[in-house]
Amino acid sequence: MKKVLVATEKPFAPAAVAQIKEVLDKANYELVLLEKYTEKSELLKAVENVDGMIVRSDKVTKEVIDAAKNLKIVIRAGAGYDNLDLEACTAGNVVAMNTPGQNSNAVAELALGMAVMMARGNYNGKAGTELRHKKIGIHAYGNVGRYVAEIAKGFGMEVLAFDPFVDAETIKKDGVTPVATVEELYSTCQYISLHIPANDKTKKSIGFDLLNSMPKGATLINTARKEVINEEELLKVFAERDDFRYVSDIAPECKDEIAEKFEGKFFFTPKKMGAQTAEANINAGVAGANQIIDFIENGNETFKVNK
Ligand code: 3PG
Repeated sequence: MKKVLVATEKPFAPAAVAQIKEVLDKANYELVLLEKYTEKSELLKAVENVDGMIVRSDKVTKEVIDAAKNLKIVIRAGAGYDNLDLEACTAGNVVAMNTPGQNSNAVAELALGMAVMMARGNYNGKAGTELRHKKIGIHAYGNVGRYVAEIAKGFGMEVLAFDPFVDAETIKKDGVTPVATVEELYSTCQYISLHIPANDKTKKSIGFDLLNSMPKGATLINTARKEVINEEELLKVFAERDDFRYVSDIAPECKDEIAEKFEGKFFFTPKKMGAQTAEANINAGVAGANQIIDFIENGNETFKVNK
């Protein structure tokens, strides 16, 4: 019997685990569950004999791949796969996949939810501002970006997007205005919603010049990765602009300094919450289980992210 490990330091909703189990049962695969683990050794032991593995932001390092003697496939149940060591996967003959789109609406809802929270001054009782008629710039028009656009339009916002990998016509069809440069996006929009992945090109790429070019009442919404922000320069923007606000899923490394000096101008989730809904967990977890079975049984490599 083939074994599939679901290793989630931050567990899926119980309903998602139940549905993953159902999918695996039907295919005659066994579910091995490792939730809320605190030691790397627990993960190293759990992967020893499994054929497939589903993780969330859990780190799949070379050590994990080396410990997993039977592993054929690892699924990142979600979008960003910066937590997987792709080279180690390839070297270990392990296919790595993500489940694009499956948790995107949850992330987008959080992005707009945090925007409202900031516009209303963290619900401090004082007069805030509204989102209607404000411009929101979507930095990277992928699955999450598209949902953010849809929801933002519902708020009556004017939606712009920058994405060098998506053609302008596709963006226009959604009633969104494409812009040609990242500089134009930031200098035009009071709200920016970040959806770029964290990789060698994007890490620390959002810094002083872009943020400082934002119009008055600037709010940066980050449901992507904290690593894409240049934190030293973020602090400089906070120091120089009284109107600047930052909401992020999850907190930056410099959160204590921000909390100490810029009270009321930020909100950070205590734990990554974007994809933390029952619906997103079910969608991503079940997709992951199906992808494992389809790969092992039929060799289907759709959504493979390593070479
Ligand atoms: C993703 O890349 O899919 C999101 O960041 C969600 O991550 P999580 O599954 O760890 O909540």
